[in-house]
Amino acid sequence: MIIKQLELQNFRNYQSQVIEFGTNLNVLIGKNAQGKTNLVEAINFCCIGKSHRTSKDKELIKFGCDSARIKVTALRQAGTKTVDILIPRQAKKIVRINNLSILRIGELFGNINSVFFSPEDLRLVKESPVDRRRFIDIDISQLSKVYFYNLLRYEKILAQRNKLLKTSFDKNQAMRGLDVWNEQLAQIGAKIIFSRLKFVEHLSKLAKNQHFRLTDSQEELNLHYTGIVGANVDAIYRILFNLLEQSIDKDLQLGYTTVGPHRDDLKIVCNDIDIRSFGSQGQQRTVALSLKLAELEIFKEEIGEYPVLLLDDVLSELDNLRCQKLLDSISNVQTMLTGTSFDLSRPATRFFIENGHISKM
Ligand SMILES: Nc1ncnc2c1ncn2[C@@H]1O[C@H](COP(=O)(O)OP(=O)(O)OP(=O)(O)O)[C@@H](O)[C@H]1O
Ligand SMILES: [Mg+2]
Repeated sequence: MIIKQLELQNFRNYQSQVIEFGTNLNVLIGKNAQGKTNLVEAINFCCIGKSHRTSKDKELIKFGCDSARIKVTALRQAGTKTVDILIPRQAKKIVRINNLSILRIGELFGNINSVFFSPEDLRLVKESPVDRRRFIDIDISQLSKVYFYNLLRYEKILAQRNKLLKTSFDKNQAMRGLDVWNEQLAQIGAKIIFSRLKFVEHLSKLAKNQHFRLTDSQEELNLHYTGIVGANVDAIYRILFNLLEQSIDKDLQLGYTTVGPHRDDLKIVCNDIDIRSFGSQGQQRTVALSLKLAELEIFKEEIGEYPVLLLDDVLSELDNLRCQKLLDSISNVQTMLTGTSFDLSRPATRFFIENGHISKM
């Protein structure tokens, strides 16, 4: 997949800008605070309908303006895709795909796929389980709309169950509603967990290979889904349903649901060491990179073409050898690489970004 063109109007610090990208490596250079991250944020927004920096779409509108617009034109094996998003300050965003408005945001997934890597992705390895679940959820959602809708449904039911837990006077009153919510939560939760298990198994294999490559076979990377596991959806359903029943007293006491896919995690192990607790900064960074490169391969296997790779300010974080290995492994993937300065001898389409203006170098 190739992003041919990006059009921005009143998006962040851009007023009106049209950019034609090269088909392989695109290098975007600029000083701090000129609009590099804004640009990759705009592309990613057209892929997943969300910013990686804010949950408030209105923040994307240029200060003092009424609306922002992003339009991406991509060439896919199946033909041209345009995603055109209007973000008005006073209304909900409007998304058009090939000129047709979509009714549900889930329809956006899978039209233009991206893998996004920025220094904050170190959170993926270092921080809380929420970050790792988000990583898994965004990826599977890009590959399966059904998964995305199951997640939304799960969150709604979970909120209802938690509300009941908080507002019930006693167990008897709670039990009348909990029976229904436990059943529904276990049904959908089991589907979510099963998809995640399959995804993590696949990711683990690919990430292990990437990690061997980046570390000259010095480090063996393994990923394990931790939480509820089972051989198939039915088995997981039974385990989850029983756990929900068994945890009622505890859940009533705490006022929230303590079991389910919203509590699961991804354990990242390198040479038998839990990398989150014991990995060095450099090891953690390389693991994050291996995960991202594995993501690229998963997309390639599942949808038959590479997604677009967005690398925001990543090279400054890596030593020279790892930079070269990274660039070698993405030579046939369209990449948008941002940074403040580069010493790259590779062929690339180069852009200079200054105060919300982009020019080809
Ligand atoms: N809604 C907005 N309207 C106008 N300007 C904005 C808006 N949101 C952010 N900005 C500005 O956009 C500028 C560029 O931000 P961006 O994060 O893209 O910088 P950058 O080039 O990636 O810098 P760095 O190298 O420090 O990461 C910032 O100065 C920021 O204040
Ligand atoms: Mg930036």
